[in-house]
Amino acid sequence: MTARLGSLTLPNPVLTASGCAAAGRELHQFFDVAQLGAVVTKSIMREPRSGRPTPRMAETPSGMLNSIGLQGPGIESFIANDLAWLVAHDARTVVSIAGSHTDDFAEVARMLAGHPAVAALEVNISCPNVESRGQVFACDAIASSRVIGGVRRAADPAQPVFAKLTPDVTDIVLIARACADAGADGFSLINTLLGMVIDTDTLAPALGGVTGGLSGPAIRPVAVRCVWQVHRALPHLPIIGMGGIRSGLDALQFVLAGAAAVSVGTAVFGDPTAPVRVLDELTAALAERGFASLADAVGIAHLDGPARALRLEPAAAEAAAS
Ligand code: SIN
Repeated sequence: MTARLGSLTLPNPVLTASGCAAAGRELHQFFDVAQLGAVVTKSIMREPRSGRPTPRMAETPSGMLNSIGLQGPGIESFIANDLAWLVAHDARTVVSIAGSHTDDFAEVARMLAGHPAVAALEVNISCPNVESRGQVFACDAIASSRVIGGVRRAADPAQPVFAKLTPDVTDIVLIARACADAGADGFSLINTLLGMVIDTDTLAPALGGVTGGLSGPAIRPVAVRCVWQVHRALPHLPIIGMGGIRSGLDALQFVLAGAAAVSVGTAVFGDPTAPVRVLDELTAALAERGFASLADAVGIAHLDGPARALRLEPAAAEAAAS
């Protein structure tokens, strides 16, 4: 189950999704977070930030909307408290970083350079809960390129940089290519989709921030499609897939589409043990299909029928051919 994400190797492919498990403390009462491939922390900014007005969450069919607004303690407090806690608990850590301006991202990356606990950076250029759409850098190829280029130059060369993209664009491959050209080492796909709920009793938007990010199983087909498209265009760059993963078979869809690892997010609100359960279920699902390793399954859905069958164990290949 070793996950190979370019220069980053993780013992297994199941990570938390940024924003759904803070820095891992809350989940640790349910399972040892060191069991995960990595903990992906809530996006952290240069300065402390209080986020958007409440209410910040609303249920939706097969999902939820959040409008947190990148609340966080700021990078200094994060390093002193959250990162220190993760180190003390032997958790591999992918730090999600965010910024209001291009330079903010690079500064946060610089402050994390050389930190032994930071396995990689996830650059959140796609948060929908910002003051203006101009700050959703991942909606624009040039803005994405500037942020990712700045982070790649500022970051520790040993810390791979994953660009987290939004599906709220006409052509996600265009944005992914811009990030790749700017030095991204891989991608996290996808962030939430911009959505809105109106409370029919109050006749007003349900969220204090009016709009929010839609997550959960409702967005899974969109996420699988994005992983598929980006893997097809840039097969040499690793993808961490996320969006509505609730079971091992959900995770397997992402792997077959081209993800080398997956993040479990919204599912933890209903089942805090979801990440380790998904890992167990994915391990079993791969074995049942005759895959000798996780790597053998990555991107398999892109192969044509006979080529796909050849990658399976003889018995399964025979079944697929008949
Ligand atoms: C938020 O803090 O508003 C969520 C972050 C994100 O969706 O990127």
